[in-house]
Amino acid sequence: MAQGSGLEGVVAAETEIGHVDGEKGLLIYRGHWAKDLAVRHTFEEAAHLLWHGRLPDDGELNEFKKKLVAARTLTPELRRLLDAMPKRAPLMNVLEAAVAALAEEEPAGPPSVDAAIRIAGMLPVAIAYRHRQANGLPWVEEAREEGHVAHYLHLLFGRPAEPAAVRAMNAYMILTMEHGLNASTFASRVVTSTGSDLHSAVAAAIGAMKGPLHGGAPSGVLELLEKIGSKERAEPCLRELLGRGERLMGFGHRVYKTRDPRAEALREVSAALAGDDPWLDLARHAEEVAVRLLEEFKPGRKLYANVEFYAAAVMRAVRMPAELFTPTFTAARAVGWTAHAIEQAANNRIIRPQSVYTGPWPASSGEAPVR
Ligand code: ACO
Repeated sequence: MAQGSGLEGVVAAETEIGHVDGEKGLLIYRGHWAKDLAVRHTFEEAAHLLWHGRLPDDGELNEFKKKLVAARTLTPELRRLLDAMPKRAPLMNVLEAAVAALAEEEPAGPPSVDAAIRIAGMLPVAIAYRHRQANGLPWVEEAREEGHVAHYLHLLFGRPAEPAAVRAMNAYMILTMEHGLNASTFASRVVTSTGSDLHSAVAAAIGAMKGPLHGGAPSGVLELLEKIGSKERAEPCLRELLGRGERLMGFGHRVYKTRDPRAEALREVSAALAGDDPWLDLARHAEEVAVRLLEEFKPGRKLYANVEFYAAAVMRAVRMPAELFTPTFTAARAVGWTAHAIEQAANNRIIRPQSVYTGPWPASSGEAPVR
């Protein structure tokens, strides 16, 4: 394995949770097309599928929803922690701390679906709480929606969300719940493999998610589109960026060497939401130009729009502030992280790869390496 390979192509786990086929552009969650789930099912149904292995029947769904609603709370201790974190602390770091703090309330034992529900229930509330606090807005006590996504949007914006916005966010959160052995999910499995707790695994995953090469791209996409500004400027602007050797945010993927199916689904969802929004029109045009120029500047690399490109369109259409893009992605992906942690713990062996030493050999003693 050459240095800088990023473990590309290495198989590090067997999983029944999700399958990504980057050549064909396929994404499957436990025997279901992610795209179909995103359009036809709710966040709760998809989460039940990932955690329990099957879509719920009516009785199971009711039971499941009750648990998730009960988990949407901030204990007094958690609230004090959120209040005490420095005002300028990045939200992703605040979420790491919030998840770690939740561990204290959990019974000891291997990762469980109930603990996963409590993490997934708490995260959107913590995001909304810190967001409103940072902006001097009062906390929303009256949000009573049963639906997870509708409740999150109400908490964030202080009023019930439009049904179209809920549908679009629901699709986004389902499409970003799970994605094979991406960097943050791998982090979750590595931590779980040491016998550590679910909260430590999720905190580590949040740390991985914070990086701009993983979860931090949608705000970069908005910056890119703002820089482009108009359809006429797309070609010169993108050409200039690529000429300077810059990466276009929202393009390229380690696994997908064709169009990212999540980007496809979100492209459709965002079109329904935004109607003929000129900004969405610009995004579509910029995508076409970017794909053409990427082939010119990086021939053969197969660079296409990734999920983050159209995630930016959905986020903008629902008026989600840019600083909440990655935290919202986190609130969705927490389902995948915890499903993988549960699976890892059920059939565990510590994940411990090797490295090849390329440093100097001591001059004084020992055997020289065989070259
Ligand atoms: N713009 C321009 N060139 C690119 C881009 C891009 N967005 N992505 C890759 N390339 C080029 C690289 O410069 C490299 O060129 P080279 O062969 O001349 O050196 C080649 O394509 C291969 O790139 P790698 O970095 O080896 O690809 P890798 O699989 O390691 O990276 C990644 C994947 C990190 C997503 C990359 O495509 C990227 O940086 N994209 C922009 C950031 C982004 O959109 N991140 C969100 C990813 S989606 C998600 O995490 C949910």
